[in-house]
Amino acid sequence: MKEKLAELREKALTQIGASEGLERLNDIRVAFLGKKGELTSMLKSLKDVAPEERPTVGQMVNEARAAIEEKLEERRRAFEKKFQEEKLKAETIDVTLPAKKPLIGHRHPNTIALEEVERIFVGMGYEVVEGPEVEYDYYNFEALNIPKNHPARDEQDTFYITDNIVLRTQTSSVQAHVMEHTKPPIRIIAPGRVFRSDEVDATHSPSFHQIEGLVIDKHITFSDLKGTLAEFAKELFGEDTKVKFRPHHFPFTEPSAEVDVSCFKCKGKGCRFCKGSGWIEILGCGMVHPKVLKMSGIDPEEYTGFAFGVGLERIALLKYEIDDMRLLYENDMRFLKQF
Ligand code: DAH
Repeated sequence: MKEKLAELREKALTQIGASEGLERLNDIRVAFLGKKGELTSMLKSLKDVAPEERPTVGQMVNEARAAIEEKLEERRRAFEKKFQEEKLKAETIDVTLPAKKPLIGHRHPNTIALEEVERIFVGMGYEVVEGPEVEYDYYNFEALNIPKNHPARDEQDTFYITDNIVLRTQTSSVQAHVMEHTKPPIRIIAPGRVFRSDEVDATHSPSFHQIEGLVIDKHITFSDLKGTLAEFAKELFGEDTKVKFRPHHFPFTEPSAEVDVSCFKCKGKGCRFCKGSGWIEILGCGMVHPKVLKMSGIDPEEYTGFAFGVGLERIALLKYEIDDMRLLYENDMRFLKQF
């Protein structure tokens, strides 16, 4: 019995020593120390041992059990340590690798152009105001001297919400709002989104942006308008930019004009950019019609003023030499990143 016990102990320790992995260790534990394990059954056969021998043999069994358990534990710890080390090695971070660059957003060309226009006018003492995109027919048309059945309504294919509510077709709609609530002097620009039922092509979109300008004070004349827009054009397109005022018609201004700037690409010689003319059209303007002033509660005998309207996309396309408006709305990062 004693010999068998020593043998068993030796066998268990050898197996533990040679084991590879936690699973095998567990098998060994069950095989020796489990309910039907070899050592357990030896303990059971203790009753066959001569009574005087029993304490010694019993002690040997206990010692063998303790030795096996200790060896199992030692082996288990070794496995765990090895496992940890391997895991750490696999997860090593190479701190010398370049970090991932965070993707920083980029201003849209429209926004860049708008901020440039705002900078110029704020520098001349203008305030930036906003008006509603969903607008009463009154502010979009009526108050701008465009009564019902006026042909100017047909030119601006309007999205109607109801009979008297529209998506504004022009930022000129902000004019009456401002005049109703502000005592002159008034000096504002009103940028914003406008809507027209147009098919999408290289120069049209059903939704685009305009910047309206309005100045009302005593003794405002056409020469103030000319000086202001000449200065604006120089700041926006370069010091040697010239402006040309062509007579035009808008219902809310009298007289009215369209403004061209000398082509900043060819300096007016004529090129592909300005279609050979040397001039590029950029905005509409004029002296605020007395009827428009009166409708909004401003006395045309006391005050005069001028107004202008610029297409924001037009400015962005010109300034950044983009030849298709659709590019501005596709939000392709490869395109937007260039500005
Ligand atoms: N609202 C006009 C348009 O959409 C642009 C315009 C022309 C605005 C002349 C003005 C102006 O204030 O005086 O075509």
